[in-house]
Amino acid sequence: MIEIENVTKEYPSPEGLRLRILDSINANIPLGSQLGVVGRSGSGKTTLLSMLAGLERPSLGTIRINGFPVSSAGEAELSRFRAREVGFVYQTFQLLKHLSALENVLVAAEIAGHPNARTAAQDALEWVGLSTRLKHRPDQLSGGEQQRVAIARAIVNKPKLLLCDEPTGNLDPQSADQIFRLISSLSLELGATLFFVTHDYALAHQLTGRIELERGQLSRLQLSSGSMA
Ligand SMILES: Nc1ncnc2c1ncn2[C@@H]1O[C@H](COP(=O)(O)OP(=O)(O)OP(=O)(O)O)[C@@H](O)[C@H]1O
Ligand SMILES: [Mg+2]
Repeated sequence: MIEIENVTKEYPSPEGLRLRILDSINANIPLGSQLGVVGRSGSGKTTLLSMLAGLERPSLGTIRINGFPVSSAGEAELSRFRAREVGFVYQTFQLLKHLSALENVLVAAEIAGHPNARTAAQDALEWVGLSTRLKHRPDQLSGGEQQRVAIARAIVNKPKLLLCDEPTGNLDPQSADQIFRLISSLSLELGATLFFVTHDYALAHQLTGRIELERGQLSRLQLSSGSMA
């Protein structure tokens, strides 16, 4: 279960004001849920993902993931948690440009202390359909292929939480659709909880659950087709 309890997030503004981005939000999300996350630009989608990953702490309130206190854990525990339990996919791929596809994925497996890092990295690239591109560097790959490498990196440690922040935002419609399908099928296969941020409501509606952020609130929280919480 992902437990979000009375979570408020404020940022100081350059003018010295405190901007309240999220205002006392609550949600209990069963592990394995697949959630499309939507909301206007600036509504706090990236902020929410950063707090789930323990990259940002709530100003108030608590977040627990499968019992692990993300919002209060120490930095060393959080680093271990992120390396082993969380996979990220970003709009801009964020690959290391001097490393090959295989090396990009390998780094993530090694940081997590994977006992068979190289085999795991090769397997992950095979899952995303890139076994013929292992030695290509990012600038030798298409955008859709780079995103596949990023997905392989995100899943190489079989994370329980997959955080995708507009992963299709930089892709043409056909690649976007393929990447969406790949992420949703891999997260199902892994039993991972998926947060998939997108401005494309049609994509978000293909997932069984949805979170909508509006004026600091979860204006909509639907955990599976048909259930409202
Ligand atoms: N480190 C920070 N310091 C100050 N303000 C911040 C910081 N990070 C985010 N904000 C503010 O918090 C608000 C929410 O930002 P966030 O990036 O979560 O929005 P978003 O929903 O992901 O938007 P987009 O769809 O454009 O990516 C914004 O108004 C932003 O200016
Ligand atoms: Mg964002």
